[in-house]
Parts: sequence; structure tokens; C-alpha cells
Amino acid sequence: MPSTIVLGAQWGDEGKGKIVNLLASKMDFVVRFQGGANAGHTLVIDGRKIVLHQIPSGIFNHHCQNIITGGCVVDPESLVDEVDSVVKYGEKVDHSRLKISSGAHVVTRMHKWIDAREGGAVGTTGRGIGPCYVSKARRIGIRLENFIDGSYKDLFNSMFDECVNLYGLEKEKRDEFFVPLQVSLEKIKPLIVDTRYIIHRAISENRNVLLEGAQGAMLDLDNGTYPFVTSSSTTIGGAITGSGVYIDFTKRVGVIKAYCTRVGNGPFPTELNDENGERLRKVGSEFGATTGRPRRCGWLDLKLMKDSCMFNGFNSLALTKLDCLSGFEKIKVAVEHDLNGKPIYREFDGWKEDISKVQSPNDLPTNCRRYISFIEEYLGVPFSIVSLGADRDRTLILELEL
Ligand code: GDP
Ligand code: IMO
Ligand code: MG
Repeated sequence: MPSTIVLGAQWGDEGKGKIVNLLASKMDFVVRFQGGANAGHTLVIDGRKIVLHQIPSGIFNHHCQNIITGGCVVDPESLVDEVDSVVKYGEKVDHSRLKISSGAHVVTRMHKWIDAREGGAVGTTGRGIGPCYVSKARRIGIRLENFIDGSYKDLFNSMFDECVNLYGLEKEKRDEFFVPLQVSLEKIKPLIVDTRYIIHRAISENRNVLLEGAQGAMLDLDNGTYPFVTSSSTTIGGAITGSGVYIDFTKRVGVIKAYCTRVGNGPFPTELNDENGERLRKVGSEFGATTGRPRRCGWLDLKLMKDSCMFNGFNSLALTKLDCLSGFEKIKVAVEHDLNGKPIYREFDGWKEDISKVQSPNDLPTNCRRYISFIEEYLGVPFSIVSLGADRDRTLILELEL
């Protein structure tokens, strides 16, 4: 059976959560391979909205096992809260439904404290992600396996002492930082296992496995708009190192929002600081799912999407939030950037109709179909899914051989 990867093609918030939850109905495993609680993946389940940060978006599909791999950075305190919120939705979350890699690094309150001091220039989510990956790269990090073998306390203390000595963290905070961490680690202990072998076995046994990306290609540490990026590999290579298993993905799905958004700082060539940008923010409810910050909005940038396709080898695309473009008289798409990095646009006539309840692609307005076809042709990759609303049933499946 094929293995699938779903990745954001822009600066995150493309609607990956909705798409993964949809595809998870056919999956045995859904796997997060990078990032941590900086992600905010919104699912609408029976009309109720839930935002997942660390738990993979397959958790509401009962037959589906969910895995957080060693490429992720795990914040035990926020994970415990998240598990509780999923349980409140009536879902069982135990070892049979959620497993966490013993190799995953632990985000501590020190990491969040450093992020609060240093993350301003980039406009991070403040979830301690960058500092935790720094600890990992410096080889001083705490992995979940260090909780199991008891060595985590010494690692915590060295990290805490360093924060006191180098950055002036108040010594009195030691217990305030340590005790809640210890309590939450104890709670998630039954979920900790070496997930590499589980994923490997699933692939060998031809089970349906889906890898769920967080953030998006333009936030990739190596290939994104550095230094305004996150600290992990959000592109396809990250899935191999993060999961620890070679996977020959048959379906490589890029999620593209019908326009672009970005939270935090950094270049955004097609950004609209006018009434069109305001309108996109309003109709698309473009406010961060993790921090609540207003998202910067702009036209679709196909030049950058072409790069995303190159990084990831997409062979299938999911177009989301097309419904949000209804009512624009003209819709622009960047097809090139000039020598100064300014976008060169192609302009399309818009459509007036509300398309959110359309059931068949043929019922989409002609101008809307033109917009979709142009994107497909430009990128040379077909759309398999067109999403017209946050609910699962607001989706057109164009081609899906899973
Ligand atoms: P993710 O981080 O990529 O999972 O995306 P987010 O959840 O941060 O942001 C996407 C937002 O758009 C969420 O509020 C979704 O419920 C919503 N959404 C997803 N697909 C659609 C769609 O096709 N139309 C509309 N109107 N909203 C959508
Ligand atoms: P999902 O998975 C959108 C952005 C932050 C900041 C930069 C670095 O929901 O698409 P970090 O906290 O990771 O060090 O911040 O990356 N960012 C996201 N933007 N969606 C996300 O996740 C993001 N995760 C991080 O706003 O600009
Ligand atoms: Mg999001």
C-alpha cells in the first residue's frame, strides 16, 4: 500500500490539519516528524473545532495509530493539556492510539524562557522550539529516554545552571521549572517507545502510513526564507531523518492555500497592506491557531510554490480555502519576481458566487475553474483535493488513488 506525505507548501497554516484528518480515514498510522507545539492544526469534528499542536491529526479516526517521532521536540506540559482536551472530545488517548519517540527532545520552561528573550526578531511562536533544537544540536538536550533512565534530572540542572550563569535566570525558579515538567513526564511515560521500529514494521507490512508535516516549505530551516524560518526541516527530507525510516512516498501531497499568509516577520513579496489584505484576513479568519496573532495576508505566489514543488517532489496538490476568494472582482497571482524581488502578477477575473456548498468540480464557476487550471498548469502538478470550507464534507475529491 502507498505511503503518503502531506506538507505545507507556503508559510504554514495552509489547512494541513483538515486535509490530514480527511485522509486519515484511510490510514493505519499518522506520524508527525518535526516541529512541536509551534504548530496549530485546526480540525472540525462534527461541527466542533479543535486545534492540535503536537498530537497528529489522525487522532479522531479510531482505527488510526498516531506517532510523534524523534525529529519532534516535545513539550510534556502542553502535551498533557492537549491530551486532556482531546479526551474531553470523547476520544481515548492511550498507548494504543498515541506513541512518542524516546528519541524526541524535551522542551523545558528554560527553552521557552530563552525563546521569549530571543525570538522577537523572527517573531517566533514563543514555544521554545528554536532553543530546544539548539540544545539538540549542541548535544546537551534532554531526550525522553533520559526520563526513562533517570539521567534527565542532571541534564535539566546543567541546563538550568547555564541559564542562571549566562543569561541571568533567577535561581529561585528551579523548582517552578522542574516540578511541573517531572509531573507531566510521568503522565506521558506510558506513551514513550522507540517509534522507528513501529514505523518500519508498518511500512514493511504495507500498512497505510501518512506523514504529517508542520509549518511549511518557506519556513524550512535550510530552504526557507532564512533567517525568518523555524528550526526544523519542514520539507520531505525531514520526514526521513525525523522518522528514522526510509520511506518511498507514493503520494506527496502539497497543501496550498488559495492565497498566501504568514505569521511572524520576514519577506512576503505578495503581501497586501490594503483593503484586499484586510478582506482576506476577515473572510479567511486569518488569526494564528497557536498564538492568536493576526496573519499577514497576500496573493498566491506561484514562483515560491514552484520552489516548494522542487524541494518536495509533490505529485499531488490540495487547494484549500478557495471559498475565501469568492466576491473578489480581480484575483492576482505572482508568476515571477523581478530583479528587485517584486512580484510580477497575472490577473484573473473573480467570481461572485458562494462556492462553499458546491459538490462537484463542474459546478464551480468558470472563472474559478480557470484559476485552478492555471495553478495546476503552472506548477505541473494536479490537484487531488479542493477544499471549500473547514468542515470535512466541504471538500471536492478530484483524484485520489489511495
Ligand atoms: P494548518 O496549520 O495548516 O493545519 O492550518 P490552520 O489550522 O492553522 O489554519 C487553517 C484554518 O483554515 C483553520 O481555521 C481551518 O479550520 C480553516 N480551513 C481549512 N480549510 C478551509 C477551507 O477550505 N475553507 C475555509 N473557509 N476554511 C478552511
Ligand atoms: P503550522 O503547523 C505558521 C512561524 C512563526 C515564526 C517562525 C519561527 O500550524 O502551519 P518558531 O516558533 O517555530 O521558532 O517560529 O515560524 N511558525 C508558523 N507559522 N504556522 C505554523 O505552524 C508555524 N510554526 C512556526 O510565526 O515566524
Ligand atoms: Mg496552523
